Amino acid sequence: MDGNGRWAKRRGLPRTAGHTAGEEALADVVRTAARRNIGWLTVFGFSTENWVRPPSEVRHILGLHRKLFGRIEELNANNVRVNWIGRPFDEPGSRTPKSVQRAILQAIEDTKGNTGMVLTVAFDYGSRAEIARAARRAHPLDVDSVTTEMYDPALPPVDVLVRTSGESRVSNFLLWQAANARVYFTDCSWPDFGATQLDEALALVAKTAQPDHGATT
Ligand code: IPE
Ligand code: MG
Repeated sequence: MDGNGRWAKRRGLPRTAGHTAGEEALADVVRTAARRNIGWLTVFGFSTENWVRPPSEVRHILGLHRKLFGRIEELNANNVRVNWIGRPFDEPGSRTPKSVQRAILQAIEDTKGNTGMVLTVAFDYGSRAEIARAARRAHPLDVDSVTTEMYDPALPPVDVLVRTSGESRVSNFLLWQAANARVYFTDCSWPDFGATQLDEALALVAKTAQPDHGATT
């Protein structure tokens, strides 16, 4: 969910205002995606690299995650089940404060009965660390067992990877899972991302035929 800072700067606002607007955009996108019958929506909320940002910005972003995980009424109304991927709280290097841990676990618990879309929030997440850890744990060391050792092995292969804010590169996000993903690049900053952009991204799945070599899922 990139481009919050630039969105704010263009408006002469502090970066934190961009993050606040970004959290609201996410709430909207979740609603729209659930209505489109999307099965899995995974968002990059906070990366293992983001901890080096100024403490006040990090604090603000953590607060927004507590807000996001606290939207239980809306999530339940939309039949959305909350899920999380990231560095496990009990592993060396984990930096997720207890308050955010509690918010994540509570949201998972309070939405576990929902049968619609699964909203996975990547928090304190880095894809290369996820893959390295999975490789350490995989026996035998082959594609199937590495897949089984991902933070959440239930996450299906990515159909569409969305990159916002004019960046034409991928990031340290779902690199293993996105091996066969279509990629939707948009100049739209995350706070402006809405139904129009979501539908454009989804159209990539409809338009692009599945590869017929069948080597990957
Ligand atoms: C994404 O927006 C939010 C997080 C990484 C938490 P940015 O803060 O990266 O916004 P830009 O890239 O500075 O515009
Ligand atoms: Mg950025």
